[in-house]
Amino acid sequence: MKRRKRIQFWRPSRSGFCSMNPNCPLRCKRFTLTGNRSRPEMFEHSAAWYDALYSFKDYRREAEILRAGIQQRLPQAQTLLDVACGTAAHHPALLESFQVDGLDLNPVLLELAAPKNPEGHFFQADMTRFELKQRYDVITCLFSSIGYLDSVHALEQACSHFAQHLKRPGLLAIEPWFTPETWKPGKVHMLTHEGPDLKICRMNRSETLNHQSVLHFHYLVGTELEGVRSFEEIHTLSLFSRQEFQTALEKAGFQVDYDPEGLTGRGLYWGFLA
Ligand SMILES: C[S@@+](CC[C@H](N)C(=O)[O-])C[C@H]1O[C@@H](n2cnc3c(N)ncnc32)[C@H](O)[C@@H]1O
Repeated sequence: MKRRKRIQFWRPSRSGFCSMNPNCPLRCKRFTLTGNRSRPEMFEHSAAWYDALYSFKDYRREAEILRAGIQQRLPQAQTLLDVACGTAAHHPALLESFQVDGLDLNPVLLELAAPKNPEGHFFQADMTRFELKQRYDVITCLFSSIGYLDSVHALEQACSHFAQHLKRPGLLAIEPWFTPETWKPGKVHMLTHEGPDLKICRMNRSETLNHQSVLHFHYLVGTELEGVRSFEEIHTLSLFSRQEFQTALEKAGFQVDYDPEGLTGRGLYWGFLA
């Protein structure tokens, strides 16, 4: 179920700087690529440091909010598929209540996921086109992973595949990315991690291009063994509206319940299949 991701809009600019932002103050010349090299993929370089970078997140608390929501809506739920599971950071807490499997596109993240859930099955697949033998009581898609889909059509395909992989009754929980109304371009963001042997700084300015949010991340990673290295990644996330989610979920047969707070303040769509 592997596929090559298609090159989206990334093009070298004549100015010599990042084509999205010719005035990029960080002079990100490494993206002025010649020839036909595609843009760097999401998590292409950073996967190994994913857990360190997001160590500030309270995954246990998020999993507990999720578990309470599941138990309220589907008290008999036993099995859960975590789509776009990344490094399975929610799994240790979810395993206290459910049998959990994971699915993700990125093989490095899946390698890091497996030890957190030794009994779980992990699948490398695209959420818009996966075919598993199992059906689950619950499917989750958390931490805005759904935003990585590049179109409303892809969102509808993913919702349809979620429905196909749920038992009846079945429950879906999607934590969305920003909407066109809540996205604030032009802001500079910095995330740091400071451990004894590993220090990371990630900085970006939020951008919008072709109605999508673009996060052009500049990383500095320092380790005692390798010294300091720098790299960049571009993450493009669609700004799906509330109505687009509602329609995609309803088309796939879900009854929709939107919680504006959710696990982290980004909201949460619950989809119920009777
Ligand atoms: C922000 S991370 C979230 C990971 C994890 N759910 C968490 O809460 O830490 C986004 C994840 O979405 C995955 N992803 C992006 N597009 C995907 C797709 N089309 N199918 C499956 N996984 C995808 C990435 O590989 C990455 O692991």
